[in-house]
Amino acid sequence: MPTIDLFTPLQLGPHVLHNRLVMAPLTRNRAGRDGVPTGMMVEYYRQRAGAGLVITEATCIAPEGVGYPLTPGIWNGAQVGGWAPVTQAVHAAGGRIFCQLWHVGRISHPSLQPGGALPVAPSAVRPEGEAMTYEGLQPYVTPRALETAELPAVVEAYRVAAKNALAAGFDGVEVHAANGYLLDAFLRDGSNRRSDAYGGAVKHRARLLMEVLEAVCGVWGAARVGVRLSPLNPFNDMRDSDPEGTFSRVVGLLNRYALAYLHVTEMGRDAPGAAGPAFDPRKLKAIWKGVYMTNHGYDKARANAALAAGEADLVAFGVLYLANPDLAERFRRDAPLNTPDPATFYGGDERGYTDYPFLA
Ligand code: PHB
Repeated sequence: MPTIDLFTPLQLGPHVLHNRLVMAPLTRNRAGRDGVPTGMMVEYYRQRAGAGLVITEATCIAPEGVGYPLTPGIWNGAQVGGWAPVTQAVHAAGGRIFCQLWHVGRISHPSLQPGGALPVAPSAVRPEGEAMTYEGLQPYVTPRALETAELPAVVEAYRVAAKNALAAGFDGVEVHAANGYLLDAFLRDGSNRRSDAYGGAVKHRARLLMEVLEAVCGVWGAARVGVRLSPLNPFNDMRDSDPEGTFSRVVGLLNRYALAYLHVTEMGRDAPGAAGPAFDPRKLKAIWKGVYMTNHGYDKARANAALAAGEADLVAFGVLYLANPDLAERFRRDAPLNTPDPATFYGGDERGYTDYPFLA
């Protein structure tokens, strides 16, 4: 068998990916205040269509799911209309694009919520830190714990968003269950103190994610649905008493669905213990029965080594894709890489967004 590397095609559900580079989901805050994708977003994604798969920036499923300024949504027709030229542009350039479905949960602020309401969460546990609002940084508030009777409406919002993503022409969706946002906050026991059927044992904490996946797979079919987890990421004040036990069980439960892929970000590996007792997240690959995508700080050499060793099937690149629209071609030619500009990561105009140079 020839060695698998970044340029070995992969069958992903019904899609043939030309290479194993994935553009990781990246929040860039360049949508309209109404969550409608803008023209510069069309160009940004078009430029990056050389990835085997593009995953959009996190995209809000409902007004209550918004936690940052100028992030896109997919809960209404205007937003679908803004995404349609994005998917058309990526397809015209020969690429594939999944929409990442996002509800921020407690990582929001009343000023970003409909009617100035409190953000919602599994439990009334305030995260340390500050929300990015239209009025600048403001301390996070204690969120309102969702009532058990409210959860079906949350699941329904994911189903509607999934239908909207289909209408917008995406090739699939990724359910964002990472980084301290709503579904991850249910998974980890630092943020989930519930005593109903959605708290306690891991299978209960995972219930909302499973119900969301049922709903989304009902729209798309499991082969076009991915899921993202972040077992060790302390970002957004997240922790778990037993990340290895929790996420081993979650991945075991996910095996019920023949999903397109499992996407695990290794973020937090470099700060062992901050999110709970450390473990090697690659152990999750041994439990998972499908396509496995890894992420966090990979370069070409490390990515190829991981693929050759069977530690991953796909590698998602964040900051490298941000700064190198033609990253696949640069890797292919061993060409030098552009330097990312952190000052333009979050918000602004075309500068630092669509003006990173291509190879000559
Ligand atoms: C962010 O806006 O900082 C952000 C959004 C989504 C993530 C992680 C970070 O998953």
